[in-house]
Amino acid sequence: MDLLQFRWFGGWLVSSVKVLMTETWDTIADWYVERVRTGSAMHEFARDVLLDGLPADLDGQRILDLGCGEGLITRALALRGGSVVGIDPSPRMIGHAQTAEQASPSGALYAVDDGASPATVAAGSVEWVTAGLSLNNVPDLAAAIRAVRRVLVPGGRLVFTIPHPCFEAPHARWSLGADEPPGRVVGNYFAEGFWRSVNPVGARRAGNQHRMLSTYVTSLVEHGFVIESVAEPAPDARVVGEHPLRAGLPPFLLVSGLRS
Ligand SMILES: C[S@@+](CC[C@H](N)C(=O)[O-])C[C@H]1O[C@@H](n2cnc3c(N)ncnc32)[C@H](O)[C@@H]1O
Repeated sequence: MDLLQFRWFGGWLVSSVKVLMTETWDTIADWYVERVRTGSAMHEFARDVLLDGLPADLDGQRILDLGCGEGLITRALALRGGSVVGIDPSPRMIGHAQTAEQASPSGALYAVDDGASPATVAAGSVEWVTAGLSLNNVPDLAAAIRAVRRVLVPGGRLVFTIPHPCFEAPHARWSLGADEPPGRVVGNYFAEGFWRSVNPVGARRAGNQHRMLSTYVTSLVEHGFVIESVAEPAPDARVVGEHPLRAGLPPFLLVSGLRS
C-alpha cells in the first residue's frame, strides 16, 4: 500500500467508524425494513412470541403498539380485529408503516411519537399496550412504564418482548469453537446503560439500552403492575436452521403485566 492508498484507507476507516457511531433507528430504517420484509426468521419469531401472549380474537380491543417500527406487529394485531395505533419516534419507520398500510389496508393507524412520553395517546384509552423489542431502546424505562400505565384502562395489560438480557448483554458474542467451546460469550451483565454494537450489519449499531432482567420486572411492580407471566421461548426450527448455536438459548424474553 503506497502513502496515497494508506491515506485514502485511513480516511475511509475514520469516516466509516464516524457513520457507525451516529447511526439511529431513523438512519437504519430503510435497511431494517428491507431485512424484516424479506423474511427474517428472528423477526418473525419475535413477532410470533409476542402475538402468542395475546388473545387470538382482539375484536373490540383498543391497542397501543409502542415502538411499532415498520408495523410488523401492528398489522398482525389489526388483522386479529384490534383497533390499533402504532407509535414510533422514527419518522422514517412510520413512513414505511403507512406506505405498507396504504398498499394493503389492515386498519392500523400510525403516529410519530415517543414511547416514554406519548403525546398522541389519551389517558385510559387502550386495553392493551404491546411493545415488541422496543423498551430496550427507550432511555428512560420508568418514564415509559409510567406512560404505559397512564394510557391503559385499569385491568389493561402490557405485553412486551426484549432481546433476552442475560444473553444479549453489551457486546455478547458467539464463540465458534476455535479457542473456546462453541456458544454465547457474555461479558458484564451488570453494566446497565447505553451501548452500541460495532457490527456494521446488526440492528444494535443504532444503539440500545441494556438492563438486567430484574430491572424490568422491578420497574413493572414499582409502577403498579402485577406480573402475570414471564416466558423464555425456545427458538423455532427456522431460527435454529439459520443459526444452529441459538438452539440452546432463548433469544427473547416475553413479559405480561396487568395494570392494577
Ligand atoms: C427492533 S425495532 C422493533 C420494531 C417493531 N416493534 C417490530 O417488532 O418489528 C425497535 C423500535 O424501537 C423504536 N424506538 C426507539 N426509541 C424509542 C422510544 N423512545 N419509544 C418508542 N420506540 C422507540 C425504534 O425506532 C424501532 O422502530
